[in-house]
Amino acid sequence: MMKMAKFKNRAVAALITLAAAFTAAVPTAATAASSGAPLLHAPVNLKDAVSLQRGAHLFVNYCMGCHSANYMRFNRLTDLGLTEEQIKEYLLFATDKVGSPMTIAMRPADAKEWMGKAPPDMTVIARSKRPDYIYTLLKSYYVDETRALGWNNLAYPNIGMPHPLWQLQGAAQLKVEDKESHGHTVQVKSVVAGEPGLMNAVEYDRAVGDLVNYLVYMGEPWKVQSSRVGIIVMFFLSILLVFVYLLKLEFWRDIKH
Ligand code: HEC
Repeated sequence: MMKMAKFKNRAVAALITLAAAFTAAVPTAATAASSGAPLLHAPVNLKDAVSLQRGAHLFVNYCMGCHSANYMRFNRLTDLGLTEEQIKEYLLFATDKVGSPMTIAMRPADAKEWMGKAPPDMTVIARSKRPDYIYTLLKSYYVDETRALGWNNLAYPNIGMPHPLWQLQGAAQLKVEDKESHGHTVQVKSVVAGEPGLMNAVEYDRAVGDLVNYLVYMGEPWKVQSSRVGIIVMFFLSILLVFVYLLKLEFWRDIKH
């Protein structure tokens, strides 16, 4: 009996060590940012169809000048409650058809020459770069005359992409403050409002949130439907359970007698 208890304790200790090791090995969200800018939390909600529609609209108007989404078709947007008519009217360029993928005309080589790097395809960007990072990135632009295109970014210093939403946000400025920390003076950089754009701060935060929400959706559109699928799977499994139980009774009947 004593031995058994000892064994149990050891097994529990081993499990705890294993769990701790696993947690330490999983990178935290914060390490995803490439610099010192603290990560902000993106308000992702794939159940909010109106936010996803607004995000799709922003994506087509402000990102597709440079970024494609080659693995996403325009007509998938009907899943978000948009009709084909609305897609045609508000989102398509003159040459596109409703069933075509979200491609762009810019040649990667031209983009590279102009901005130093080719803009990545956006279909799964929210999975590769994480939503919180993209949200932070779009809120960390500031005017920097030393840069060729006039913009810099706290979350990605010297980024090749000029501020894609400057008309909406306005021209934010960099603020550098000296702060005391453990007896040392450290420089703390932040971005503060400058010349205003078309939106106020609250509207801009919402727009960036909608856009990131849409990027997450684009990377995994099936998630919008996955809760429905989950219910069907549970229903199927519970019916299966009845049959498996009957089968078990059938097997054991001969053995018991
Ligand atoms: C003027 C062209 C242009 C437009 C418009 C544009 N981008 Fe970019 N984007 C780029 C380029 C170029 C890069 C590569 C920058 C680099 O790595 O230096 C990039 C990179 C990115 C990245 C990856 C950043 C990283 O950490 O590697 C994200 C995310 C992104 N863009 C999001 C967007 C979103 C969202 C929009 C629309 C609001 C948008 N972009 C509009 C040119 C553009």
